[in-house]
Amino acid sequence: MRKKINIAIDGYSSCGKSTVAKAVAKALNYFYVDSGAMYRAITLFALQNNCFKKDNVFDQEALVRVLDHVIVSFKYNTESGEQEIYLNGQNVEKEIRSIQVSNHVSAVSAVKEVRQKLVRLQKRLAESKGVVMDGRDIGTVVMPDAELKLFMMADHAVRAKRRYDELKSNGLDVSLEEIEKNIASRDAIDTTREIDPLRQAEDAVVVDNSALTLEEQFQFVVGQAVKRIDGMD
Ligand code: DC
Repeated sequence: MRKKINIAIDGYSSCGKSTVAKAVAKALNYFYVDSGAMYRAITLFALQNNCFKKDNVFDQEALVRVLDHVIVSFKYNTESGEQEIYLNGQNVEKEIRSIQVSNHVSAVSAVKEVRQKLVRLQKRLAESKGVVMDGRDIGTVVMPDAELKLFMMADHAVRAKRRYDELKSNGLDVSLEEIEKNIASRDAIDTTREIDPLRQAEDAVVVDNSALTLEEQFQFVVGQAVKRIDGMD
């Protein structure tokens, strides 16, 4: 049987990481893990459980106190053919994409205890190989031994437009301006936070996809993966 590798895809928000990751996982018959969805699920929990007080003041301790009772998991949807995220047994795939969650997720994902919990879970998911995981710290912290690491980037305007189109097609009411602001502030927090900030792994292959079609990105990543897999035989 062909050996399996792990593929880590990191990069800024709205760079199209998940679209490529999903397509590559499908083509290789690998397990796709959307690590951002896990941070989003905990953010949704924090919002639902009053961890954000008046004027958006974040009560971190309140979240940390109940963190052991927050269960984040994935389940395969046979109809869509995709992994979907569950928060304490409830499918929250749609709720976690709201602008409200997007506006609070960077604060939640900067909390040490949240990262420890999710990194532990992500490492476990990657143990048996054959995983494509995307996020911010996958090549540096979660899967430092991944056989293939990619660092994706794209122009700011391209990213905002992509996220806008995605949310609109999901029926969410948002403005381009709102999204641009959200992307800029998330970039700032994600790259400057103290614990596991977004950074490029030394051995990552950089992919600037501003001018690439989805098919071109897909072909490139699958090509890189096949090279690594063949190199293991
Ligand atoms: O990939 P995304 O935009 O859905 O991720 C949502 C947020 O989660 C992002 O702003 C930063 C955080 N995140 C993180 O800190 N570490 C990861 N591995 C993945 C996401």
